[in-house]
Amino acid sequence: MTFRKSLALFFSHMIAVSARRMVVHESLAAAPGSFVSQGPAPATDMLTLRLALAPNNIAGLQAKMMSISTPGSSEHRQWLSADEVKSFVKPSSATTFAVMKFASTHGLNATVISPHEDWVSITLSVAQANDLFAAQYQVYSHPSMSNTITRTLSVSLPPELVGHIQVIHPTTAFLKPGSRTGSTTGHVQHNKRATPPSCDTSLASGVMTPACLQSIYGIPATPATQSNNALLVTAYVNQSAQKADLEQFLELLRPDVDPSESFTLLSLDGGNDPQNPSDTKDDEANLDIQYTAGIATGVPLKFLSVGGDFATGLLDTTTFIHGLEDPPTVVSTSYSLSEESFGFTLASKICDTYMSLGARGISLLFSSGDGGVRGGHDDISECKNNTFVATFPNSCPWVTSVGATIGFGPETAVNFTGGGFSNYFPIPSYQSDAVAGFLETLPTDFQGTFNSNGRGYPDVSLQGVNFQIVLGGEVTGVGGTSASTPTFASIISLINDQLIAAGKPVLGFLNPFLYYYASTALTDITAGHNSGVCPVSTVAFNAGVGWDPLTGSGTPIFDQLLAAAMGVAAPGSYNDTNTVHTSGAVVDTVSALSDDSATGTDGSDGSVRKYGPIIIGLLSGNLVLLLILVILGVGQYIRRGGTARQSSKYAPVKLREEDSMSKMAPYDVE
Ligand SMILES: *[C@@H]1O[C@H](CO)[C@@H](O)[C@H](O)[C@H]1NC(C)=O
Ligand SMILES: *[C@@H]1O[C@H](CO)[C@@H](O)[C@H](O)[C@H]1NC(C)=O
Ligand SMILES: *[C@@H]1O[C@H](CO)[C@@H](O)[C@H](O)[C@H]1NC(C)=O
Ligand SMILES: *[C@@H]1O[C@H](CO)[C@@H](O)[C@H](O)[C@H]1NC(C)=O
Ligand SMILES: *[C@@H]1O[C@H](CO)[C@@H](O)[C@H](O)[C@H]1NC(C)=O
Repeated sequence: MTFRKSLALFFSHMIAVSARRMVVHESLAAAPGSFVSQGPAPATDMLTLRLALAPNNIAGLQAKMMSISTPGSSEHRQWLSADEVKSFVKPSSATTFAVMKFASTHGLNATVISPHEDWVSITLSVAQANDLFAAQYQVYSHPSMSNTITRTLSVSLPPELVGHIQVIHPTTAFLKPGSRTGSTTGHVQHNKRATPPSCDTSLASGVMTPACLQSIYGIPATPATQSNNALLVTAYVNQSAQKADLEQFLELLRPDVDPSESFTLLSLDGGNDPQNPSDTKDDEANLDIQYTAGIATGVPLKFLSVGGDFATGLLDTTTFIHGLEDPPTVVSTSYSLSEESFGFTLASKICDTYMSLGARGISLLFSSGDGGVRGGHDDISECKNNTFVATFPNSCPWVTSVGATIGFGPETAVNFTGGGFSNYFPIPSYQSDAVAGFLETLPTDFQGTFNSNGRGYPDVSLQGVNFQIVLGGEVTGVGGTSASTPTFASIISLINDQLIAAGKPVLGFLNPFLYYYASTALTDITAGHNSGVCPVSTVAFNAGVGWDPLTGSGTPIFDQLLAAAMGVAAPGSYNDTNTVHTSGAVVDTVSALSDDSATGTDGSDGSVRKYGPIIIGLLSGNLVLLLILVILGVGQYIRRGGTARQSSKYAPVKLREEDSMSKMAPYDVE
């Protein structure tokens, strides 16, 4: 007893001391946008916080990922098993020990909520959260939300958690309503008249139907044959997919397939898929499901309905997919928000998890947004603001960002297509040449402000205007990068089907492959200006020869993509000077620093000089972090007297943890 008491005193003393040495983890000067504080959150309200624990070797996974995704590498497309990914992502025992000790010291239950054991959740009062993390939780309202959210402008870590905790959520992430890419910006016309299932390419913009898309991109109509090749469509903010509308859509626009072909429903965080055939608010989910069912003929289709707020939903989606015994091979997501609304730590953690999904052979496609260069700024009042706004998740370099085009003769970038450069993620090696080529074309007096060292997006593009869907029983025209993305994802699924049938690995993380074969497998789109809803004279980017931040490297040529995927197209047959040559040399540079990374191909083309500094720069950041972690870990280990083992204490993984404070109001989903 006495011993315990003195121990408790000792710990409370430690806490008092460390409270003065709290390290600011993330902070904002003010609540962004139109969020308004309604005062402090009641001290006794309970919060459920998710804590992301630092992975043990993210640099190693990154090196491995570049090696397995780069054409020409000796281990190209040798995707990792769940356990192999976990060996990189699982926190070190020093990290789990530090977090578990912190939790038990403060009487908290930390529940592991992810298969990689890199996320835990704790439930505590507002008063305790404020105290432990030097936070000031307040209740915030937003004019377009009926609910309030509980957030803090600043969150700090006690020194014993620094380097061990990467994210505490929710803290400083303020997500504005309107996470849908598709129809939130008002330029998408709902065109309520029945249109014939034809593709008249003599029209200025045409009417998009599955048959039309098949014809312009050479997509086969023959059904896929492989059952272990699911295409997953994600849905957030209460979007639901109507089976009756899908059936009517297939009857009308794919008369050659069985109209009862449907999808399997998966649900997460209380998401569901109520069937209200007269409901017309669900244009996003119906567009996504109709153009995957309509293009990815015969591919097993799954619809994941995710409840709760968008940020929590995105991170729960990643852990959910990692936990699936039979994960999909392609995931299509048509939702995004400005990067800054997530905050750096949360966006980075979600992005790293996309990397780990890609390393398992899952292709992740995200829409590039419909706000042109002004991302979430799609309001006419902001047209004079030349600070461009990047959108996430598509700005993550480990996903494929899909932009939108219009017309046929020639196909051009549509004015709303989201495009630009991340403020959070540095330029990845696979696109450094392509982006450099574009930046050289910008006039020296270009008025737009953006991060020219950031990851450029989109990577590719596809038609995105006037897609015919059935909504509430009626044929309607809708558009957006929301339409382009499920269609591009469907093309990847059809290629995967043929790869699996031929006994070859699926495409997995796409970008090095797409940039490598850009000049043969994509049609370069060279015209357009993405000023969005703003007047054409407004400052924005122009499409041009080679990669550009409107259409990426271009639109798909199905048979060329297939040939490249099957290994029939000779590697290096491309010679677009604007196309990155992601070479084995990059891999070599990296593998020298990580023994987990396998042999690359030889780096004899000299590009190591070109890419080396970038990769080394990226890595050295990680190495410094690793070093800090190791030092901290050793420190913890010594203090504990050499018994740093705690993992047996974990509760079983439970993925459906309800986040009591993350319920956001309905988004205005027109
Ligand atoms: C922690 O979990 C245990 C077992 O589930 C429970 O008995 C206890 O009340 C929990 N403590 C807190 C502080 O939630
Ligand atoms: C312009 O937009 C940027 C990015 O959202 C913002 O930080 C800045 O405050 C805006 N400037 C003005 C004058 O509104
Ligand atoms: C954007 O392009 C569409 C389709 O060509 C056109 O109807 C619209 O007027 C354009 N918007 C602006 C603001 O120029
Ligand atoms: C390859 O490059 C050469 C010289 O720059 C050019 O003439 C040729 O058209 C290019 N071929 C292809 C397929 O792009
Ligand atoms: C989703 O629907 C539920 C139940 O109708 C509602 O409570 C919630 O606020 C909605 N959320 C969004 C983001 O629209």
